[in-house]
Parts: sequence; C-alpha cells; structure tokens
Amino acid sequence: MSELQHLAGKHILLGLSGGIACYKSAELVRLLSKAGATVQVVMTEAAEQFITPVTMQALSNRPVVSSQWDAREPNNMAHINLSREADLMLVAPASADFIAKLAQGRADDLLSLMALARPIERCPLAVAPAMNREMWAHPATQRNLEQIRADGAFLLGPGNGDQACGEVGDGRMLEAAELLDEVIALFQPKRLAGLKLLISAGPTFEPIDPVRGITNHSSGKMGFAIARAAREAGAEVTLVAGPVHLPTPRGVKRIDVQTAQQMFDAVLPLAASHRVFVATAAVADWRPAAAADHKIKKDGSGQAPSIAMTENPDILAAVAALPQGPYCVGFAAESQDLVTHGRAKLIRKGVPLIVGNIGPATFGRDDNALLLIDAEGEREIPHNDKLTLARELVRGIAERLLHTQRP
Ligand code: C5P
Repeated sequence: MSELQHLAGKHILLGLSGGIACYKSAELVRLLSKAGATVQVVMTEAAEQFITPVTMQALSNRPVVSSQWDAREPNNMAHINLSREADLMLVAPASADFIAKLAQGRADDLLSLMALARPIERCPLAVAPAMNREMWAHPATQRNLEQIRADGAFLLGPGNGDQACGEVGDGRMLEAAELLDEVIALFQPKRLAGLKLLISAGPTFEPIDPVRGITNHSSGKMGFAIARAAREAGAEVTLVAGPVHLPTPRGVKRIDVQTAQQMFDAVLPLAASHRVFVATAAVADWRPAAAADHKIKKDGSGQAPSIAMTENPDILAAVAALPQGPYCVGFAAESQDLVTHGRAKLIRKGVPLIVGNIGPATFGRDDNALLLIDAEGEREIPHNDKLTLARELVRGIAERLLHTQRP
C-alpha cells in the first residue's frame, strides 16, 4: 500500500460545525480523499457561515447535506441512511456548542442527529475541537469533553498557538495533515495498547573537530516509521534520534542526540521502564578518541593527520544485558548472507529478535523488505513502503510479546 492509500475503502462522514477552522476542513477533505477515503460532508447552519457547501461539494465530489428535511433522500432519513455506510464520523471543527450538544445527546439538527443515530459499535465518533482558549478552558466545556470521552468519542487535539481572535493558547483545531494522521491511526488495531516502546533511529555523528565528523547514510526513515506505527498501535513511544531531517511522528516523544555516547546516555536510563526497545539506529562503531578543540589545519607538509579511534559502546547489547530489561529488537543491515549474519547477531547481542535487511541499497529510500529472524526461524515481510513494513513489524513484535514473560 502506498502512503497515498492508507484509507482505501474507508467511508468518512465529515461533519463541520461553526468555526473559523472550517477553512482547514477544505484541505482535510482533499487529504482524506487522496488517502483513498470517500467523504460525505455534513454541515451545520453555522458552518455554512464560514465556508460554502459549494467548496465542500467540489472537494468531496458529493453533494453536501445540512438539513434533516433534505427531500433528496427517498425516505427522508438522511441521518439513518448516511450514517449506516460510514466507517467513521469525524466532526472537524467541533465547536464548544456542538460538543455540548453531543454531551447531552441532543439532536436538533442533522449533524447532531447523525451522531446520535450512528451505530456506535461500527462507526466511531472522532471530534476535533476548535474554539477560543477561554471557551476551551471553561469548566462547562471540560465537563462536556469528559462526558463525550466517557461515551466513546475520540478527541483529536486541540492544538496550541495563535488563535483567530488574536489570543494565544489551547483550542486551535489541528492542521489538516495532523488530522489525517490521527484518522489513519484510528483505523489501526491497538496491538500495543498501554505499552511503552523505546526506539533508537538515524545515524550518529562523531566529531573529529568543530567542523568535521564521521557519520553514515542512515536517513532514520525506518525508525521513524516504527515510532509512528507503534503509536498508531496504542503504544507510548520515545524516539531517540541521531541527526536526521524528519518530522516527529504525532504523539511521539523525541530526544535528539548527535553521538553514539549521547545515544547510549539517553537510552540506558530509560530502557528498564520500557516494555520494548527497537534499535534501528546505525550507530558508528568507532569515534575519534579525542575531538580536536579547533579545526585541524593543513600544515603544508603534505601529510594527512592520523586520527586515533576508539570503540563506541554497543547500546543494544547493553540494554539486552539489563536484568529487568525490555524485549529487544535489533536491526541487521547486511550486503549479503542475511540469514547467517542475522542469526549470528541474534546470539552475539543476546536479543530475541533481529530484523534483517539488505542495508546499503535501502538507506534513504521509502521502501524496503524485512526478514524477521528469531529462535523459531525466519519470516519475510515482503517489499513495501516503510510504514507498511513498520506496521507488520509491530504486529510481529506484539505477537511475540504474548509469548514472552517480562523477566
Ligand atoms: O553490531 P551491528 O552494528 O552490526 O548491530 C546492529 C544492531 O545493533 C542495530 O540494531 C543497531 O541499532 C545496534 N547497535 C547499537 N549500538 C552500537 C552498534 C549497533 O545499538 N554501538
């Protein structure tokens, strides 16, 4: 599945209530559709003050519905007909007033009627609040949110920052791209619910002097994809990242480091409090024994300087050796003989699972194939984009955890 089609086959009821954030919902329809979903837009009267149904119809390629008296439905029951096909009802923006209605189960317009009439087992409700920070913080709003959460609604956001009214604080609707990621996540099975995952990712950078260093071509994409997939699966994820140019997946806690030693110092104290450690980082094996304080200059002799090297600590092996350590997953990027090298690494590092891939060819690419190697044997996860591979790996890890007692 390509990144573009993560919502293939999904039908989403997108409800807009009144708020300036309605302009973001136009982009959201575009992104949901691009991700493969079909989108039925439902608007309240207030929403139509902010954006026209014409815009939303053009983007969703379906007539917008807004009235429970819409005679286009043969049985005049839009609230039933439209909510029976949906895989998700997403209200974005959800105004304070609309959330109050949801909390009370009121149904005096089509959108609130649909929220009440949808089959709650089959069609979950997600709500993206959008309001002024005072309205957000008001005890009545907080009470209502508590109530709709208890009734099973998923709360997406809100974000924090500049508000249309000129104030700054909590209550901004998430951006369309953030909502897309949240919607994709909602559809993923929660195989790691409540578990804490620690992931190392990217290359390390070992300084030679203030302007030079030793690094490698690891892009961090696989580790970041695993962080996203694990969070989608319900885990609480901490990502320790070497120098990479990648956005942090939503909901993931990120710690940036440069050197192998810094990565070691960040990972080790956290490891015992995590259930799983996935070491995807391409950690430099050696570092210059002492980085020069000043830029090393040519001295005119024609002689290159010799740089004394020292070995870096093995982060994965150190975590695997902890008495109360997490379930450890190592990576093996090889250029040949994946099974032999992977199996040797399984033993050398003392870990229960090694994920092999043909390394150099995959650095920086968006796709790959993986080979899971453990005591039981080998299983291939065939060629695919890295997020799809990461989800399969998360499934593999979750299955193995079921059979693994915490030491
Ligand atoms: O020893 P090698 O680099 O071949 O092993 C690769 C695996 O070990 C990867 O999972 C990598 O993240 C981890 N590793 C580590 N610390 C090192 C070297 C490798 O955590 N210093």
